[in-house]
Amino acid sequence: MSSEKKIRKIGILTGGGDCPGLNAVIRGVTKPAFDFGLKVMGIFDGFEGLVEGKANELYDKDVSGILNRGGTILGSSNKGDPFHWPEMYDGEIKIVDRSQKALDNYNAWDLDAVIAIGGDGTMNIAQRLREMGMNIVGVPKTIDNDLQATDLTFGHDSAVFVVAEALDRLHTTASSHHRVMVIEVMGRYAGWIALNGGLAGGADIILIPEIPFEWQYVYDKVISRNMRGKRFSIICVAEGAKPLGEEMKIKEIDNKRTDAIRLGGIGEYVSNKISQETGLETRFTVLGHLQRGGIPTPFDRILSTKFGTSAIELVMERKFGRMVALKGDRIIDIDIRDAIAHQKLVEPDNQAVKAAKAVGVSFGTKYL
Ligand code: F6P
Repeated sequence: MSSEKKIRKIGILTGGGDCPGLNAVIRGVTKPAFDFGLKVMGIFDGFEGLVEGKANELYDKDVSGILNRGGTILGSSNKGDPFHWPEMYDGEIKIVDRSQKALDNYNAWDLDAVIAIGGDGTMNIAQRLREMGMNIVGVPKTIDNDLQATDLTFGHDSAVFVVAEALDRLHTTASSHHRVMVIEVMGRYAGWIALNGGLAGGADIILIPEIPFEWQYVYDKVISRNMRGKRFSIICVAEGAKPLGEEMKIKEIDNKRTDAIRLGGIGEYVSNKISQETGLETRFTVLGHLQRGGIPTPFDRILSTKFGTSAIELVMERKFGRMVALKGDRIIDIDIRDAIAHQKLVEPDNQAVKAAKAVGVSFGTKYL
């Protein structure tokens, strides 16, 4: 039985949206793997490569010099769910199950395990493949930081760095032109990027999905700043933020994606409403994929290396169906099923929310 076999050959893939630190994990997995005498297959474009049979053996030269490189040398996809596989039939897209094909390729390549690096979508697929008999170990990634099972995901710190720098830049132009500047940041249904980026970049108002805002308090804040001689304001709004009683702004629904909903548009909406209701001049910026591109911060490089090296240890210990996670300053491992059970959202009494309020940041609600 394959589960009893000595570990000789593993596969590695990166699924879902990319983020800084993926290559550092790949390096963290493969370098020790070579020392253990393993062969490593790099599977291209996430689970898409597993279904379509796209993979190449990785060698030391492939994983040298990639610690600080953004993106992923393996490619990624958020449309490659084997259980939700889009295929064209008579000019129409049909969703079919191609999981058996994924398992066939796993067996054909003679893999003893796969290390899947990704967010909740990737971990869901990993768990289902595990139930079909694949030996899987998970490594959590997402700039959104919305996995309950781990204190932090790598990529988040790099995204927050980009947001903070963008806010620094917006400050100077906002103050020169006495404008209200609105910046829309990513994060899906969680407000971590807006909260941490807004706090680091000195935003005056932070709007997040977990705290629906009221327009009047947003207007009051920018007007009161103006009246106190602070003739500009910076608003950091999460793409999933919504006014009380309204829905999130959806940019597109694409059923080929693992998560069909693409959020977007709240920044422009907030900007327009403020200029209409207060008469102040506003501008909005959508930071978009700049938050996902470029080099990882040192923090993310370190976390990614710890995650990668811990993941390969789990494989060698045959601890399949597990995902590495950060708890305090330790890397632990947990059941992938627990990893995907809960989304981590910002609690209204979170320390960062309290600190932000204490320095005068408004969340568009009654109390500051
Ligand atoms: O989950 C990471 C993320 O960057 C979200 O913050 C964002 O909503 C989404 O992915 C964007 O996806 P895409 O790159 O497919 O537009």
